[in-house]
Amino acid sequence: MSPKFLNATALVALALAMLTQGQSARALDWTKVSGKDITLFYPAQMSWEMLLTQSEHGGAEKFRDGKNCRGCHEGEEQNSGNLIVGDKSVEATPIPGKPGSIKLNVKAAHDAERIYFQLAFAPGAQPDAGMDKEFSTKVAIMFDDGGVAEAGRAGCWAACHDNATRMPSAAGKETTKYLARSRVSVTRKGGEEIKPAAEIDAIRAAGGFLEYWQARLVASAPPKVVDGTVLEKRSEREAAAVTAEATESNGQWIVTFSRKLDAGAGYKAITAGKAYTVGFSVHAGHAAHRFHYVSLEKTLAIDAPTKASGTPDFVAAQF
Ligand code: HEC
Repeated sequence: MSPKFLNATALVALALAMLTQGQSARALDWTKVSGKDITLFYPAQMSWEMLLTQSEHGGAEKFRDGKNCRGCHEGEEQNSGNLIVGDKSVEATPIPGKPGSIKLNVKAAHDAERIYFQLAFAPGAQPDAGMDKEFSTKVAIMFDDGGVAEAGRAGCWAACHDNATRMPSAAGKETTKYLARSRVSVTRKGGEEIKPAAEIDAIRAAGGFLEYWQARLVASAPPKVVDGTVLEKRSEREAAAVTAEATESNGQWIVTFSRKLDAGAGYKAITAGKAYTVGFSVHAGHAAHRFHYVSLEKTLAIDAPTKASGTPDFVAAQF
């Protein structure tokens, strides 16, 4: 059709198509990207500090000696979740009937400008925890580019502390995720005193923080997307650089996250040749806080495996 025959209806249709396609999904055919299934499990109240205590966690000494979480636990996620989801010794207030684990299919890709993740999962039959009234289901990615060594070894547990909100040493206080390096000292109960601002700034400038993205899902409406960083606390950005789209069909969610490879100051640069650690979480059944499912530490390479990434779990190839 030549332009002069474009009538008003056609113009509106064209404009709508451009709007709904957005700048992202145009050329990316997810059916051509291979995915990997991973298992996310319920972590209960097993904090970083507890996991480092041999009398409470059989893997503590070997972990301290250099064996990563997945070195002992990969393949056991479903069992671990089933074991601890209702075990009062590690979960003070179990949610009756809560499944212990959930499967997540992960795909990653990039183009010249952006990185994309497609996450697919089905929450299944979930009891209503009634904690997050607004959002029944939320999915998140947390990642590091090597700036936080303990995240490379333990994924999300690097940020999960005994004094965080609703954890055993919270003492009624609200404390978000944080990294141990932000504290003056850390005991079995976590760390309370935050280092002086200048020191925190220096750690941040050296890349010693984690980045996270979360999509809060609503059936038949765009998800609410938040992103931010974790260092001395979880800091959410006022305007997210990350975008997400989500669809739900027969109980299965497909969520696509995307952001610019270079999202500017304060975000982790995503570049070929760097190794990334990624962790995933899903809140289901109107759950909040720790009442989620989490993955062990996973690795991501951009374009091709690097020495540091070994054989990565996910490779984001260019399309
Ligand atoms: C050297 C092996 C080893 C390493 C490394 C290790 N663990 Fe464990 N983990 C164990 C053993 C053994 C148990 C069961 C006995 C116990 O709880 O002490 C266990 C128990 C657990 C449990 C309770 C559920 C279950 O399956 O028994 C969780 C959750 C867990 N570990 C998470 C982690 C995380 C997270 C890390 C990394 C920070 C980690 N582990 C590192 C050996 C290990």
